[in-house]
Amino acid sequence: MKLKNLSISALCAFALSAPISAQAQHVMNVNTQKLGAPVSSTMYGLFFEDINYAADGGLYAELVKNRSFEFPNAFTGWDISGKVTLMNDGPFDKNPHYVRLAPSGHRDKHTMIENHGFFGMGVKGGEEYRFSVWARVPDGGSAKLWIDLVENATMRDDQKLGNTSVDVSGKEWKKYTAIIKPSRTFAKAHLRVWGDSKKTTDVEHVSLFPVKTYKERENGLRQDLAKALEDVHPGVFRFPGGCIVEGTDLNTRYQWKNTVGPVENRPLNENRWHYTFTSRYFPDYFQTYGLGFFEFFQLCEDIKAEPLPVLSVGLACQFQNGEDAHAAMDELKPYIDDCLDLIEFANGPVDSKWGKLRADMGHPAPFNMKYIGIGNEQWDTPYFDRLKPFVAAVRAKYPNIKIVGTSGPDSEGKMFEKGWEAMRAQKADLVDEHFYRPESWFLATPEAKERYGNCGALRYDSYSRKGPKVFAGEYACHGRGKKWNHFETSLYEAAFMTGMERNADIVEMATYAPLFAHVEGWQWRPDMIWYDNLRMFKSVSYYVQQMFAQNKGSNVLTLTTADPKDAKGKKQMPVAGQDGTDGLYASSVWESTTGEVIIKVINTADKAQAVSINLNGMTGERNVQTLTLSHKGSMDDENTLEQPEKIVPKAGSMKCETTGKKQQSVLNDQLPAKSFRLYKIKK
Ligand code: AHR
Repeated sequence: MKLKNLSISALCAFALSAPISAQAQHVMNVNTQKLGAPVSSTMYGLFFEDINYAADGGLYAELVKNRSFEFPNAFTGWDISGKVTLMNDGPFDKNPHYVRLAPSGHRDKHTMIENHGFFGMGVKGGEEYRFSVWARVPDGGSAKLWIDLVENATMRDDQKLGNTSVDVSGKEWKKYTAIIKPSRTFAKAHLRVWGDSKKTTDVEHVSLFPVKTYKERENGLRQDLAKALEDVHPGVFRFPGGCIVEGTDLNTRYQWKNTVGPVENRPLNENRWHYTFTSRYFPDYFQTYGLGFFEFFQLCEDIKAEPLPVLSVGLACQFQNGEDAHAAMDELKPYIDDCLDLIEFANGPVDSKWGKLRADMGHPAPFNMKYIGIGNEQWDTPYFDRLKPFVAAVRAKYPNIKIVGTSGPDSEGKMFEKGWEAMRAQKADLVDEHFYRPESWFLATPEAKERYGNCGALRYDSYSRKGPKVFAGEYACHGRGKKWNHFETSLYEAAFMTGMERNADIVEMATYAPLFAHVEGWQWRPDMIWYDNLRMFKSVSYYVQQMFAQNKGSNVLTLTTADPKDAKGKKQMPVAGQDGTDGLYASSVWESTTGEVIIKVINTADKAQAVSINLNGMTGERNVQTLTLSHKGSMDDENTLEQPEKIVPKAGSMKCETTGKKQQSVLNDQLPAKSFRLYKIKK
């Protein structure tokens, strides 16, 4: 039935009194007169973990891999020719290695080092790239370094994409820079540094960045990827992980103090994801910390998201370790100091120790950090005991900082319950819950309810309103049958999110699964954004997150559904929110800055469905802006590098009609099968 073709009066009758079949019409009522709970400004955000080459090889725009020769195999990522010697008394005490290029002795012979980048280097023809190197001539005098960007193993006559040179002089270490402009675009370039044929030259921290990074910063971020983050309008940004915070062992945990200060002197850490899954083994995956905590805070400021750093609680990954691997209770002080010092680094005055470092790095103003996560996916007494002294220390020194504890890796069950209980007892401000679950969980099917209990859009309806708030810190539909960011799974994520929105009084923030994945080097999926060296695509899940984040509203509006008749023809009582009846999920918010009512409806059913949404408290015909995410092809379709915009939300408009003597506004629509439609109506 086409509602569009009905007259307004016919529609009124249709919506209110006519004996319509339950199958044909779903009535929803939005109370636009009474504002519900405020929606937190942090409600929808982003989760960054250095997994899938998300930092080095991803968001961090450095193109040279192993630039300081600090990888356990010092020449990982490099080819060498001629006499190249590894030295270890360089100018940076935390990265002491460098290489000595011996003179070739003949102008037609060469000593050369060639870097492969991360799966090659993606360079664009006509754009500028900033080469930099620390160098010296140990015997004094001057020497020349020639730098080429090349297509390696090419069939072309000339391998060179672009070249430059630097003149090195004197025995002291100095930084030299030069610009290279490749003549053509190439996704897998290599960088060659040729030594002088007559003089020995020492070379350290060999670096190549696009000049056009995000905000044009020298130690900057890949522009397309950072812009994609900004475009979400995220409310919060959780970093730097994930399991990476814990480390496989304590030595390899993420230590923020190693990630700040001059970039040349940030010590290397292994990346646990290079070996965690042996089926996806990447022995060259390390953390240079070029993208460190200062850069994370700066990014948060740029994209206007509240920073949420997560720190080690003194527990190495509990999945991988027994009790003896953790810091003993009497060894926790340095961990607690790290936590307090981080708050000082972010917020402290410029004359404090850590506030001064922030200022020296170029940001005298505080970052105004409000949240701190302590521990990731930790559980049971080893966690609860260790968390206590952290909470006490933070409360004593920084009573306004909100503490985010965790309920562990499960979304339900004994350990999960125990985690919540402990977080309540310790008065954590928020509890970080994680759930990577199948389709049935997201749709809260009877089987899933039986197996998991609280799940899907209904999950938070029954949560206690006392105690800590919810932070859904990692979640995604891990679809059966090898689905990750496919249309179908993303749609179910949207259905689930209506439940978070409806329960905004208890859900203070939510961040999706990891942000980034390199198509040639991933370990985990789903992820929001995928890329290679030159291109990127936003997954369908990205668009779902964006639709919610850009339209989160300022207050919840009550939306009730009432299927007109049950099987026996008896009129149903309206239910608060949705239980997924006929596969429909919905939520509604008020946006005070624009004076708009925003309604989100997800139809997960295989058939188109008619909905009639009564806007109680609004009268007259009105213009309605819509944004629709739907797809005519297979539910298993996804966006790809080749077809990045295969499935994207489409803007549209429609009219709101009127019903009854009072001319109440009513929105009649036919929702396509498997679709997510968002409506905005000015009040
Ligand atoms: O994001 C991938 C991993 O999933 C995270 O490190 C961990 O927190 C979760 O188990």
